[in-house]
Amino acid sequence: MEAMERQIRLTVNGQEHELTIRDNTLLLWLLRDDLKLVGTREGCGTGVCGACTVLLDGRPVNSCLTLAAQAAGHHVTTIEGLATNGRLHPVQEAYIEERGFQCAFCTSGFIMMTKALLDEIPNPSEEEVREYLSENICRCAGYPDILRAVQNASRKLAARGR
Ligand code: FES
Ligand code: FES
Repeated sequence: MEAMERQIRLTVNGQEHELTIRDNTLLLWLLRDDLKLVGTREGCGTGVCGACTVLLDGRPVNSCLTLAAQAAGHHVTTIEGLATNGRLHPVQEAYIEERGFQCAFCTSGFIMMTKALLDEIPNPSEEEVREYLSENICRCAGYPDILRAVQNASRKLAARGR
């Protein structure tokens, strides 16, 4: 059976959009194909790797498991929406400073999850970082650098008053 079409409005990175989507359109496809926000990656496509993580009203979701229709009327933040006034977000700066990536395929997902973590727990313990990021997979296995990046980002956000 053909998927039905519907019109939705949603806000992505502070910009409102009105789009016609099919009922089975995934948020990941809407971001990458319709809005050309290709910083959100498709890894496993089955909710396992975290590469497709975006924030939906500030909470992390796997965009490969989220229907675009579920985002109607909500605010989505992608990696492209973190920088302000041409300046990278402190979490992005921290990942660069600590070299928290190698091939970087997983990095936008890790950065979005790190932002969500530090919004929720500003000064997390190492155990809390490991637990929160446990659903994000890095095939290059740069986990010690990623851990340092999260701790660095936490200090940066505290220093600027968050
Ligand atoms: S691509 Fe969505 S969790 Fe892997
Ligand atoms: S840096 Fe290559 S998968 Fe994470």
